[in-house]
Amino acid sequence: MIYPVILCGGSGTRLWPSSRKAFPKQFSRLIGEETLFQATLKRFTTPDFAAPVIMTNADFRFIVMEQCADVGLTDARVVIEPALRNTAPAILTAALMLEDDPEAMMLVAPSDHIMSGLEDFHAAIRAGRDAAAAGNLVTFGVTPDRPETAYGYLELAAPATGNTPVKLKSFTEKPDLETAKALVDGKLHLWNAGLFLWRVRDIIAAFEAHAPDMIAPCRQAIAEKEEDLGFTRLGPAGFEAVRAESIDYAVMEHADNIMAVPLTNGWSDLGSWDALWAASTPDAAGMVQQGATTAVGCENSFLRSEDDNLHLVGVGLQNIVAVAMRDAVLVADMSASQQVKEAVTLLKEAQ
Ligand code: GDD
Ligand code: MG
Repeated sequence: MIYPVILCGGSGTRLWPSSRKAFPKQFSRLIGEETLFQATLKRFTTPDFAAPVIMTNADFRFIVMEQCADVGLTDARVVIEPALRNTAPAILTAALMLEDDPEAMMLVAPSDHIMSGLEDFHAAIRAGRDAAAAGNLVTFGVTPDRPETAYGYLELAAPATGNTPVKLKSFTEKPDLETAKALVDGKLHLWNAGLFLWRVRDIIAAFEAHAPDMIAPCRQAIAEKEEDLGFTRLGPAGFEAVRAESIDYAVMEHADNIMAVPLTNGWSDLGSWDALWAASTPDAAGMVQQGATTAVGCENSFLRSEDDNLHLVGVGLQNIVAVAMRDAVLVADMSASQQVKEAVTLLKEAQ
């Protein structure tokens, strides 16, 4: 049995205004009828998987409950982190909560991706199981198509074929552009998909080796947890005492027992408006329109209204993203999509 551990406590800013601190992108209907979080939950409903453990922030607890109920999931364990501490403490806490079953497998999944080809994804997980059962930390990789600096890079010891696990030589989290260009050209690198498979005992051992200071405060947070209205609320004193760091920096960059399973199914992180535009199947003119919108003579643009009472009209646009919400409007050049996060920083400073 594999325990899915779903991470949904972060808040990406490049998809502002649809993704924001109070309502991050994983809970938003960005593409299709379901939210990214709901689509994530539905990937782990086959008999191979136990009920999921959902790790989230206190701010999102009701959104999580509502969206679980919406897809008929009633047996998830929802664990609330009382402070923002990034993914390492969330994953370590989930592992420590499963400590009585050290041989159990955890499949750690972010909730901010889209994937196609569910059967191929499940085949990749099956391919990783033996490697994880042998004590490896298994991560999943995606063939890169650009020197993206927002991802981790997996350096393989040998070229990838199908879903066969390959020993990792090194893990580089979010390189600068120059390094990313060199890594993409090298052909032995995959993007880190942010999905991990390992036994409970091995990830705890990895923290003991590479981030031992995190263990005592996370244990304290578990010892002081409270069951409350169907949530497991971690103790604030312990959780606040742990330092904030992602699993990628805390463990993956340092461990030497990592194997990568290449994903052969479709994967996109949907981190920015241009990525969302590309994943939304633009029409012949390159247009994507969502909600109450009208386009006249527009090309290669993305119009989205999140309010039925706000009709967004584009005329003669080229390469523009326009997103209308009741309290905020974004108009950006498509090629500047990555810079939206800079605008969010300015807005925060102005508050
Ligand atoms: N529970 C919890 N608590 N979840 C969190 C927290 C937290 O404090 N912070 C982030 N998350 C969730 C996010 O909601 C997301 O689903 C997932 O953990 C990954 O966090 P991100 O903040 O989105 O990470 P990233 O995209 O910058 O980088 C990771 O994913 C890339 C692929 O998209 C890394 O693993 C990279 O190496 C990887 O390439
Ligand atoms: Mg992400």
